[in-house]
Amino acid sequence: MPLAAQPAAPAAQSFDIRPLEAGTGAEIIGLDLARPLGDADFARIHRAHLDYHVVVFREQRITPEQHIAFSRRFGELQIHVLKQFLLPGHPEILIVSNVVENGQNIGLSDAGKFWHSDLSYKELPSLGSMLHAQELPSEGGDTLFADMHKALDALPAELRKAIEGKRASHCYTARYSEPKFDGYQRPTLTAEQLAQVKAVEHPIVRTHPETGRQALFVSEGFTTHIVGLPEDESQHILNELYRYSVLPQNIYRHRWQPHDLVFWDNRSVIHLATGCPAHLRRTLYRTTIQGDAPF
Ligand code: SIN
Repeated sequence: MPLAAQPAAPAAQSFDIRPLEAGTGAEIIGLDLARPLGDADFARIHRAHLDYHVVVFREQRITPEQHIAFSRRFGELQIHVLKQFLLPGHPEILIVSNVVENGQNIGLSDAGKFWHSDLSYKELPSLGSMLHAQELPSEGGDTLFADMHKALDALPAELRKAIEGKRASHCYTARYSEPKFDGYQRPTLTAEQLAQVKAVEHPIVRTHPETGRQALFVSEGFTTHIVGLPEDESQHILNELYRYSVLPQNIYRHRWQPHDLVFWDNRSVIHLATGCPAHLRRTLYRTTIQGDAPF
């Protein structure tokens, strides 16, 4: 009996990986994620993600299904607690948008309003997130990324000593209701949603599970306090850590271009949405890939 033909492996694509500012961030030019991706191409992308922490794929005219399928190659996807802002038919995608239709926000309007690492408030925080531009404003709307390996390296010795072996508490609701962009008020969380986002504790210094590099793992968005310290001391140390986290020389500013797909490593960077004028429309689709318990 003739053997069934094996499906052909996807053809290798020709693409460049070009480092961006300050050693954080690289752009990938010439790759088409709408085409099947072979293992060798995937390995190059994976390596770039570990080395540069923020990978910018230009000109990706991909569907939500293709966005989800590519994200899944890195791990299991996490479903955001704000179910009302998930893409209908594709709960793996969180809509980040300031667009209002029929009097309702179609997405989370102020996602990323404070520096944070996605889902650090979960026992298993996110490995990385992929944000795909759908509609961009003509002005503003940039996303900033700060390198948390460099933040740790920049800490003075006594601050480093003060956090040695310490853990911090992370909570989704830490600054949930605080308005930032044009007074936008987030929806009140239901009892069921609140039950999904109980506070968790993580080490303040974490080890990247794939590279072995250490990074600071706190953020003004989700970290509430350092476990075991009096409140004023905890807040003082956290403020200092936040200051070292966002030194200008360690920040990559992403200026969005149409059809950009940006994939960042939440174990290595924190990020911030800078906002745009309220009358300009901005919509992006985000997937979030589950990572390991920080150690
Ligand atoms: C986010 O924090 O996931 C959103 C970032 C952005 O909208 O620029």
